[in-house]
Amino acid sequence: MGCSKLRTELVPGIPAARGNARSACSLVRVVTVACMGAVAMLLLGCRMDMHIQPKYLPYEPTDFFGDGRSERQPVPGTVARGQLRLDELMFSGRENGVVVDKFPFPITQADLNRGRERYNIYCTPCHDYSGTGRGMIVQRGFPQPPSYHIQRLRDAPAGHFFEVMTNGFGAMYSYAARVEPADRWRIAAYIRVLQLSRNATIQDVPEADRQKLTQQSAGQASGQSMGQSQ
Ligand code: HEC
Repeated sequence: MGCSKLRTELVPGIPAARGNARSACSLVRVVTVACMGAVAMLLLGCRMDMHIQPKYLPYEPTDFFGDGRSERQPVPGTVARGQLRLDELMFSGRENGVVVDKFPFPITQADLNRGRERYNIYCTPCHDYSGTGRGMIVQRGFPQPPSYHIQRLRDAPAGHFFEVMTNGFGAMYSYAARVEPADRWRIAAYIRVLQLSRNATIQDVPEADRQKLTQQSAGQASGQSMGQSQ
């Protein structure tokens, strides 16, 4: 703006006057740029102050402490809040360091329902809905997991299933970040249901329902109850 005004005031045909006006114009420009630069530096300067401050980045060494580490151990006797995991069975599937065939809380129908829901979300992509290990991702080329119905996994303690979900197993990654510990146990319980569904005997059926079952299978055998059985 200042420059165009200077130009209109030029005396036509007098080179010296034009030269003076030109140098005045560039002076205005220099001053403007310098001011803008100063403002920018001031603003950026504030930001850099926050960036450059005395602090240690994670795992950064230091010679301030004798052991060379900037991260300090909690003071002996510190009590963890919100992450205190004293219940060995609940959080590791073990008792005295040994994987056990136990659940840390009694499993109810509601727990099994929740276990089925979580299993269907997180495990079926590879293990499929019945646990035979032929899920969609496996059909697309992911390594095939063993079926839950093989003898070794039928004999495996409940804690083993918890541990596999918690720590991962071979090609399978950990689910600890996605499934909270109590839900891992519920999934383990539901896997037991899947296993039983393939290996149940008549003794596993409540007395009252046995009669119904025998009738049904007799009907099925003679072809009478076709369409009724589900
Ligand atoms: C992305 C695919 C995938 C998903 C999802 C998955 N798994 Fe697996 N799982 C595998 C594979 C692959 C193996 C075999 C790993 C190996 O032997 O290297 C396996 C193995 C296992 C085993 C057998 C361990 C053994 O002793 O052989 C169990 C139990 C198991 N998974 C449970 C689960 C549960 C429970 C979930 C859901 C929370 C789950 N998996 C989700 C791929 C998956």
